[in-house]
Amino acid sequence: MTATAPSGAAAPVLEVRHLTKVFTQGGLLSRRSVTALRDVSFALGQAEIVSLVGESGSGKSTIARIVARLDQPTSGTFLLDGRDVIAGEKRRASRAFRRQVQMVFQDPFGSLNPNQRISHFLERPLRLHGISRNRDEIRTRSEVLMTDVGLTADMLDSFPHQLSGGQRQRVAIARALAVEPKLILADEPTSMLDVSVRIGVLNLMRDLCDQRGISILYITHDLASARYLADRTMVMFAGEIVEEGPSMEVMARPSHPYTRLLTSAVPDPHRLHGFDPATRSELRAAVHVAMYGPGGKPDAPTPGTEVVQVSVGPDHRVRRREPVRASEVTPA
Ligand SMILES: Nc1ncnc2c1ncn2[C@@H]1O[C@H](COP(=O)(O)OP(=O)(O)OP(=O)(O)O)[C@@H](O)[C@H]1O
Ligand SMILES: [Mg+2]
Repeated sequence: MTATAPSGAAAPVLEVRHLTKVFTQGGLLSRRSVTALRDVSFALGQAEIVSLVGESGSGKSTIARIVARLDQPTSGTFLLDGRDVIAGEKRRASRAFRRQVQMVFQDPFGSLNPNQRISHFLERPLRLHGISRNRDEIRTRSEVLMTDVGLTADMLDSFPHQLSGGQRQRVAIARALAVEPKLILADEPTSMLDVSVRIGVLNLMRDLCDQRGISILYITHDLASARYLADRTMVMFAGEIVEEGPSMEVMARPSHPYTRLLTSAVPDPHRLHGFDPATRSELRAAVHVAMYGPGGKPDAPTPGTEVVQVSVGPDHRVRRREPVRASEVTPA
């Protein structure tokens, strides 16, 4: 499905075009391939937060890893500020690219070396990217970064284990901010945090977007946080974006059966329709038909059907599989 920035928005910061990723596993005799992404396209505007939701294994992290240049796509590309990154930097990402795109991971402990003081995580990118070379200035900048993310300057001398999970995730965000990126890819940044501190980290991300104009791709399983934080939400199923639109719209009027299944699990006083277990099991069957057609499979969809993108509301699109229109069928 081709998702685009909402009409009227400035030129996108990130434009993902037709990304496909096939992983091959196993040896010569037991080779098996997994299609993690299938023709994924979307755009992210400046100072926009877009959430990517979907079940485990649907391909969310694969998108983030490709856009962070930690992985290569099998085909397709992406543009940053209108520049084709993969065509321009075939082998490895340039330092300039790494300054523009930063990633924040799920596990704030795993991403911080336990033997280093917090100051190290902020001073290193400042030095590496030549943002500052003067010791005192680096210290001052680090202190400002700490307060920017709601921590205190004296924590710079602590070790990661002396901080709480929420505080560590704030350090990871401060580290990303050190290089003044345009785009942050946040892969489940709050899922390992206590519910009570999640909201603080979500609010911090919203402030970064509003005050610094940073765009954020927010990957999550948690629909409630996507609705709370993200301007738009994209729903993934089996390597494809199946629905995309303003978060409130997608949650209140889910159109794709998979989105309906997802939203049916979230308590929502605003939802316009109710769900019972029978509906859920019907929806599960409907997901398969919507994806591949009756009796179809991922690599062998029902003959005579095609994927179409249907507009179901303002900036709200859904991927559907429909019979090929008679006018398009070429006589044998
Ligand atoms: N390095 C790899 N080698 C082989 N297969 C992989 C690799 N990385 C991901 N995959 C497969 O690609 C698919 C998508 O994985 P991905 O990690 O993107 O899912 P996800 O949506 O982030 O899931 P989760 O919500 O569990 O984090 C899965 O089927 C996964 O097994
Ligand atoms: Mg993941």
